[in-house]
Formats: sequence, C-alpha cells, structure tokens
Amino acid sequence: MYLALYRKWRPKRFADLISQPHITVTLQNEVRQNRIAHAYLFTGSRGTGKTSMSHIFAKAINCLHPIDGEPCLSCEICRGLEDGSILDVVEIDAASNSGVDNIRDLREAANFMPSRCRYRVYIIDEAHMLSTGAENALLKIMEEPPAHVVFILATTEVHKVLPTIRSRCQRFDFHRIRTEDMMARLLMIAREEGLSLTGDAAQLLARIADGGMRDALSLLDQCASFSQTIDLKTVSTAAGIAGRDDLFAVSEAITAKKPEDALKIIQELHDRSRDLERFCEELLDHYRNLMLMKTLDHPEDMVICLPEELERLGALAKRCPLSEILYCMTVLQDTLALLRRTAGKRVAMELCMIRLCTPSLSEDPTAILSRLDALEAALRAGAAVPVTASPPEPEGSPSFGKMTEWPEVLERIRKKDALLYALLSDSSAYLRGDTLLIDSPNHMLRQMIRQNGYSKTIREALAEQTGQTYRLALRGNKAEPKESELLQTILRQAKAAGVPDEPSAGTPTEER
Ligand SMILES: Nc1ncnc2c1ncn2[C@@H]1O[C@H](COP(=O)(O)OP(=O)(O)O)[C@@H](O)[C@H]1O
Ligand SMILES: [Mg+2]
Ligand SMILES: [Zn+2]
Repeated sequence: MYLALYRKWRPKRFADLISQPHITVTLQNEVRQNRIAHAYLFTGSRGTGKTSMSHIFAKAINCLHPIDGEPCLSCEICRGLEDGSILDVVEIDAASNSGVDNIRDLREAANFMPSRCRYRVYIIDEAHMLSTGAENALLKIMEEPPAHVVFILATTEVHKVLPTIRSRCQRFDFHRIRTEDMMARLLMIAREEGLSLTGDAAQLLARIADGGMRDALSLLDQCASFSQTIDLKTVSTAAGIAGRDDLFAVSEAITAKKPEDALKIIQELHDRSRDLERFCEELLDHYRNLMLMKTLDHPEDMVICLPEELERLGALAKRCPLSEILYCMTVLQDTLALLRRTAGKRVAMELCMIRLCTPSLSEDPTAILSRLDALEAALRAGAAVPVTASPPEPEGSPSFGKMTEWPEVLERIRKKDALLYALLSDSSAYLRGDTLLIDSPNHMLRQMIRQNGYSKTIREALAEQTGQTYRLALRGNKAEPKESELLQTILRQAKAAGVPDEPSAGTPTEER
C-alpha cells in the first residue's frame, strides 16, 4: 500500500523536527534533567508538528536508553510504542464522540500504574473540542495528578481551552514552518524519494503551504503523481494556480471601472460551469497579492504566484490605489461569506462585480477612501470640479408629466433593494398613460435592469404606492460615462456620505 509522504516522513526524533528549536531544546533538556511536568499544552496551526512532537516526547520520557534526551528508537519500549504493542501512550481525539467517554474512562484508568512504561501518557488531540463534561473530568484529574501520568494537550485554538486547564499546563507555541526550513526539508525528502524537485518549485510549494508542513507534503505527493520531475509548472498545475488569465481580466475591468466587462467574464465563467465560490476565493488571493506588491519592499517572498506573473501583478498594482485594493478585499470577503450560504451564486457574484467597479455605491469607509483617491487623482490630472446640476427635463416628450410620488416609490424600493435604490438615487420619473419614464444619468442602471430583474422590483414598488401597474421606459445616456460624469457621481456621493469634497475646506490656504 502506498504510504502518503507526510506520514512516511513523520519526524521520529527531536532532531527531525524543523523550525521549532524553542520547543525541542526545552523539552529535550527536561528529558535530560529528568524534570517532567504533569501537563503540556501544544498550540499552533496545523501541520507544524504538534502531534509528532507529542509522540517523540512520550517515547523520550519512557525510553530505556535515551541518547542526550532523544529517544533511542531501538529499545523494547521505543519499539513497542512505535508498533502499538505497548499501550501506555494513549491518543485521544477530542473531536470524536468517543473522546468524551475516553476521558471518563481515563479517570479510572489513570490511577493504575502503567503496564510497561515509567509514565502513562495521554495525548489529547484537538483539546479545544472537549465537551464541558469531559473538560471537567479532565480538570479533576489534573488537580491531583497521579505521579506516573503525563498529559499532552494539542490544539489549534488555544483560546477555546478552559483557562483553569490552561493554567495547569506548561505551554508551547508552535510556529509556522519558515520558508527556508520547509524548502530544505522538501528538497531532502524529494531527493530520498528519487524525485527531481527544482529549487524554485520547492519555494513555491512552501509559499502555498503557508507554514504547514503537512499541506506542503500532500501537495508534493500530488505533484509526484503527475511526474517524477517537479518544476514550477508541475506545482502550479497541481495547486491550481495556473491559467489565471480570468483573474487578471476581472481585476483589469475593476480597475478600469468597467462593470460591463466584469459582468461579461462572470457570464462566461458561469457558462463554463466554473465554481464561482472558488473563483471568488482566488480573486481574493489575487487582491492579497496586489496588496503585498503595493506594501512590501520584497513582495516576491510572500506573493503566491509564478515568477513570470510577478511583473504583471506589479504593473497592475501600480495602477490600483491601495485604498481600492483594500476596498475590493473587503467586498470579496463579504461576498465569499454570502456565496457560502446562498444558492443564487451568480447574482451574488454579479452584485459583487458592480460593487467592485463602483465604490461610489458603498458607504464602507474603505470605499470612501478609494473614492477620495480617485477624486484626488482626477483633480491632479486637471479635472475641474463640476457643479452638481439637477437632471434636465426630458426634451421632446412634452406630454409626459412629472411623477410627484417618485420619492415615495424610491423609499419603497430602498426597503426592497438597497443597491437598486442607490442606482436610482439621481433619477426623476415622468408619466404618460400607463408608461413610466425613468430619467437617470446612471449608465449602469440600464444594464442592471436588463440583467437582474430589477424592473419587477420597480413595478412592484410603483403598484404598492399608486395601486396601478405601469410599463417602464428608461431614458438616459446609453454611452459610457464620460470622465466628468464619473467624477460628478463620485463627488455627489462622497458628499452624501459626509466626506468633504474640498480637502482644504475650513482651513485657510495660500490662494485665499
Ligand atoms: N516541525 C516539523 N518538522 C518536520 N516535519 C513536520 C513538522 N511539522 C509537521 N511536519 C510534517 O507534517 C506531518 C503532520 O504533522 P503533525 O505533527 O501531525 O502536525 P500537527 O499535529 O501540528 O497538525 C508530519 O507527519 C510531518 O511529515
Ligand atoms: Mg495533529
Ligand atoms: Zn528507546
């Protein structure tokens, strides 16, 4: 049977454990000096060596001939613990149902002497998952621990462990595995396994695994099933970070404020049955990369991408203000949460694109910042600050009369759909017979009404307000917004959100 690499390469000695010297040195010293505590708490993210360390330590304190604090791995105890014929080291998975029962039994069993070893060791994995009953049972034993019992609690979420339990343990915080350490180990394992792994591929593996050795080894396993020679391309294919043109295309559309383009890409992805939730996750990672490009002196250490993509990312990052990147990350995070609980993934993703392309719709502080940046850039480029004008009366349609109840209708729409309301915020409405003409300067309204069934919402609000049904007509500019219009919208909405549109307002400047 094929044994997964991460299991085959489970560390057997303290010396095999990488990147945790602050822990191995201390524990090894305790073994050497025979100063064993009753309870240990190992915390840290997954794949950092907590379980491996527990087993090494359990062997080390029971080994008949420890070598400088390390288990010898050859005495009958070491071998018996390894092959499971000695049962004095007990591993309890607190995440499973039996975990609770195990702790109850443990209270009885802990009082008996170990059968072969010096210490009976209880390794309680996922200790934060213990039920209250089990926690209390455990606490009882820990309050008066029998001399021959050692507890090792391992957890990824230490704050969920009862403080009274925590305070009785010697605590060790496992760090994420450092990239250099992980690379070196991956290269060593690959060599031993007869795989040819290139240095840059090892580095990419390490960066993707984000400090978790198990994930790195699983990914290496996956790569090895493609080919014996593992280079950047193998890794990027196995990890699914190849072929990311879609991500670039969407972010280009967002930066260019072209919702039509972004929506078109979503449509294509949908047609190709692409998983939109996954796409949203990838887009979030992509923006994280942009953020790193923008803020770090040496982003290549942390950005997860192919080397040839670095330049492209850099060029894109140059054109995106940081505020816009942060705004996009916030929106994408919201959307991801929404995607996980809605069936209407496509609509959610479309709304997301609209929000990303038009920060002017959002009251989110990052959106306002992003708007201000755009405003500043436009002003710097020489744009004049326009005077906000009320929309003109529609010409050439004298028989239309202004609809006086429109503000009330809008109020009803606001309660049904905040985004639609925002899109309609600058509109006026005119009536003739059973036709309602909406006049709006917002170029996106037309598209949104066509694509998202918004006309139904408007008609419902109209019917509720007036008791009549109307046909809808739309009037406004079909063309792309001109720069000055965009600016006008940004200004108006920044003002509405309470952001002053003159940076120097209130303070005297040289010009005055
Ligand atoms: N510090 C480390 N040094 C070497 N290998 C490690 C380390 N941490 C994890 N690994 C690798 O990952 C696998 C899983 O590690 P494990 O000890 O179960 O991590 P945890 O319990 O923290 O999730 C191990 O079998 C080993 O291959
Ligand atoms: Mg573990
Ligand atoms: Zn031994």
